[in-house]
Amino acid sequence: MTHVSALSLAARWDAQQSGYIRRRAERFDTIGRIVAAVAADNPAPRILDLAGGPGSLAIDVLRHVPGGSAVIADKDPALLAIAADLAAQDPRLQTAEVDLSDDGWVQHPAIAAAPFDAVVSSTALHWLQPATLVDVYRRLPGLLRPGGVVLNGDHLSYSARHEGVLAGIARADDESRQKEALASGVDTWDGWWRAVAEAPQYAEALARRKEVWGAELHEAPPKVTLGFHLEALRSAGFAEVGTAWQYLDDHVVYAVAAAD
Ligand SMILES: C[S@@+](CC[C@H](N)C(=O)[O-])C[C@H]1O[C@@H](n2cnc3c(N)ncnc32)[C@H](O)[C@@H]1O
Repeated sequence: MTHVSALSLAARWDAQQSGYIRRRAERFDTIGRIVAAVAADNPAPRILDLAGGPGSLAIDVLRHVPGGSAVIADKDPALLAIAADLAAQDPRLQTAEVDLSDDGWVQHPAIAAAPFDAVVSSTALHWLQPATLVDVYRRLPGLLRPGGVVLNGDHLSYSARHEGVLAGIARADDESRQKEALASGVDTWDGWWRAVAEAPQYAEALARRKEVWGAELHEAPPKVTLGFHLEALRSAGFAEVGTAWQYLDDHVVYAVAAAD
């Protein structure tokens, strides 16, 4: 069996995710630039990547703040095992196995340690039940330093009923992106997981993955709107809330913690 390294799986993960998200690199770049601007006075900013998977966003943000450090928090043992292998090669990275549906996630030592300059997330929080998303957002002001920022990039679908034209255009754009990616030989989601299954060093983590998720792995929660995210962030007490970037239904939502 050939050796499949964490580095090659991470590169294939990024290609696979970009096959579903046309402007993923631009989304990441926007998040990174905003983090760098917010942390301009801090040579060693702390970043928390919520539901960070193998750590793609955390790693990308650190390109913009090379003196910083990042905690990659996720529930999935297999994705975190890959992140941990990448962290073994980069002391700025740390992993935290947490379930954001469980209130105790904020007490994880890596998360409770000190305030963060930025909490970032990508293609992930739509996996939370709407009530859990509200709870997670309510925790964030307590994890950020005054003036710290939340940046969440995700597809926030148009309403098929009230925004039918744009909903159709966004759906067609996603489909054509996926076709292009498939034609260029990029892994599908399932194909990527088959590649992980070929890496013996992740066999135990994959077995734990099945236990940790159970049936939940195949059940998508109800979708929520951009307005839902903005209102949940406002209700959580953020001083400034809005959209930092948008391509069709792909958004980066931001929130700034109140200054002291
Ligand atoms: C599509 S992946 C995105 C990963 C990464 N943010 C990226 O953009 O490459 C979604 C991630 O959300 C994580 N996730 C979903 N529900 C979660 C929960 N309740 N607690 C922690 N992580 C969760 C999954 O384990 C997975 O890593």
